[in-house]
Amino acid sequence: MPSKITVPELRARKSTAGRGDKLAMVTAYDATFARMFDGAGVDAMLVGDSLGMVIQGGTSTLPVTLDEMIYHCRAVARVTQRAHVIGDMPFMSYQGSIEQALLNAGRLLKEGGAESVKLEGGEEIAPTIRAMVRMGIPVMAHVGLMPQRVHAMGGFKVQGRSEGGADSILEDAVAVCEAGAYAVVIEGVPAPLAERITAALDVPTIGIGAGVGCDGQILVSYDMLGLVDTMRPRFVKRYEEFFRRGVEATRSFVDEVRNGVFPGPEHSFGMPVESRNAVADALAPRHAANPAYGPTH
Ligand code: KIV
Repeated sequence: MPSKITVPELRARKSTAGRGDKLAMVTAYDATFARMFDGAGVDAMLVGDSLGMVIQGGTSTLPVTLDEMIYHCRAVARVTQRAHVIGDMPFMSYQGSIEQALLNAGRLLKEGGAESVKLEGGEEIAPTIRAMVRMGIPVMAHVGLMPQRVHAMGGFKVQGRSEGGADSILEDAVAVCEAGAYAVVIEGVPAPLAERITAALDVPTIGIGAGVGCDGQILVSYDMLGLVDTMRPRFVKRYEEFFRRGVEATRSFVDEVRNGVFPGPEHSFGMPVESRNAVADALAPRHAANPAYGPTH
């Protein structure tokens, strides 16, 4: 069995990321996809609260509960042999108090099987990160476009385009890093800003919609595989068209069922000839009463 990628190993990739060893991460929400991504060699999987949109069909991540996150984390953690598994802390599971954050992060590790947690926020969340790290809970931070603040941001909009906005995201990244975060997700910021932050931090930065200058990249797996047909953000590269191909495959199934092509003999179970004759004999009186059946032998 392959050995698990640990937090210190992920952190150490800061020094090699610039030399062809960037971190590759995706989101995962269930066991089947987790096995696929683990087999493909991703370094880490985030059980993201983006599941509120891609799994639950919502328009934001806000309604996702901690119990739902634990349920999905458990499915991913159960089958993942190599990649590091990160549990995302959902909206209002860590903002209320440091004590609440500690207890809820603990549940993601204890009940969900996550090996670290991720939370959104900058300077204001640094004391919470510090307390969690001191208690042995590894934290991945998340700055820039923070989806849990969609209403405050007025939508899912690129952040840090102004000089003041850029400086404040840089300050946030430095603050969470000083508080002990082992890596920082930078979402939805101009590429030059992400590069500047990456140069300023001594932990890896993981970009999403933040250009190529980060130490690693993460994509929402449903976007990356073309499973989301409702929107196509500019920063997403689709490596497959699973939604379209799934519709085509399902159409073939529907046609074959309607035409009696499926199931074929290769998908059906046979019976020894004597048993077949016994069944036919037992059915004979019924069939005799109904000419639609035709002869039984
Ligand atoms: O929930 C999520 O999928 C995330 C990624 C977009 C980083 O936070």
